[in-house]
Amino acid sequence: MTVKPIKGFSKLSKEAKTEWLIDNYFDNPEESLALLKSYWHADSKIQKLHDEFIENTLTNYYMPFGVAPNFLINRKMYCLPMAIEESSVVAAMAKAGSFWLERGGFKAEVIATKKIGHVHFVWRGKEFAKLQAFFDRIRDNFFEETADITRNMRARGGGILDIELIDRSDLEPNYYQLKGTFDTRDSMGANFINTILEKWSNIWEKYIATAEELEEEDRKSETIMCILSNFTPECIVRAEVSCPIDRLTEGTDIDPERFAENFVRAVHVARIEPYRAVTHNKGIMNGVDAIVIATGNDFRAIEACAHAYAARDGQYRSLSDVSVENGEFKFWIELPLALGTVGGITKLHPMVKFAMQLLGKPSAPELMQIIAVAGLAQNFSALRSLTTTGIQKGHMKMHLLNILNQFEATEKEKAIIVDSFKNRIPSYQLALEEFCRVRGIAVDEFVKHQEQ
Ligand code: MEV
Repeated sequence: MTVKPIKGFSKLSKEAKTEWLIDNYFDNPEESLALLKSYWHADSKIQKLHDEFIENTLTNYYMPFGVAPNFLINRKMYCLPMAIEESSVVAAMAKAGSFWLERGGFKAEVIATKKIGHVHFVWRGKEFAKLQAFFDRIRDNFFEETADITRNMRARGGGILDIELIDRSDLEPNYYQLKGTFDTRDSMGANFINTILEKWSNIWEKYIATAEELEEEDRKSETIMCILSNFTPECIVRAEVSCPIDRLTEGTDIDPERFAENFVRAVHVARIEPYRAVTHNKGIMNGVDAIVIATGNDFRAIEACAHAYAARDGQYRSLSDVSVENGEFKFWIELPLALGTVGGITKLHPMVKFAMQLLGKPSAPELMQIIAVAGLAQNFSALRSLTTTGIQKGHMKMHLLNILNQFEATEKEKAIIVDSFKNRIPSYQLALEEFCRVRGIAVDEFVKHQEQ
């Protein structure tokens, strides 16, 4: 079926939008409509809030919200809120929390909190030195003429830290930048920075039009765009765990020296081999994103930045690192995290407010520390499984319920089947066979029925 384009969709009521969608894309209109409506919030005020977060909201999209308790970070106990759909991530996180709780907990430290933004512009003059002299003369105006916009942020101890003129004509003919450095305190700062950059562009174009230092034909700058950079290599946090090697495998029959050796090798592989590094860092981001989402932060920005940072020396590498010296195992991570604990949806989304309360209403730097710890903890759990039992044992144990739910197993069937996998690793095929055995049907018959 070819659907005709629609004009003015965003102006339609929610009901009209839904009707159009159902009529044009679904051959089970009643069922689809009922599904959309079943995800509406019972409280119409909360639903309206969600409707207004974005354009064209039709319903809500659920994700599990779980917690990982027992996180000791800088001698303070936390229970971490996590919004994530992947079966084994919260379980792995909780395991790492308890493991390190018994070994002194996590240490975390914010190294820097600078954010960056640019006015990207074209200038067709020849002598950059003259442009620089002009910039130096009017530099204070960039601070003075944005004083109204920065007043509140300055009152909170932040604001504009610096502005520089940058020559990027080596990359692209006539390409230059005004580069701003900012401290946005507890806010992520995107709106603050972008507002200032747009004002700077006006200031720059206004003054350059009458710049005495420049030839008349060079008194023109064309702004390409004004935008913050989500690459924040100077907004960095470090998290670390350490313990004597022989405590690493306590309570197991694994040799600690061998465990440490394999662990170090696994991290080393992720430092030198990009194919492994991407998966290694994906595991780190399992922990990071889950809290970033639960606390209403922008996981796309965090992801983009983390991966750019992982490739900062020209090769994509592991974000975590490890050492074993004098019998001491040390495992750490350094992550760029531009986060906000005020602004955005932090004071609007009921579950975000809940997550913030759970974390004790942290400042942005404290949240940076918590999230870096989550990344490190998740990475530790993944590497511990990968280098010992293999990842599938824990992963499939958690995923088994998804498979059984897909088969529409009853609670009783689920309990029997889960029990039957107590001492063996489940797989889709094994779960299917076990399910059919318990239900008393032939596997072929059930598969055929599922495919219909
Ligand atoms: C799965 O979501 C994450 C892992 O693949 C991470 C890793 O391999 O380190 C288990």
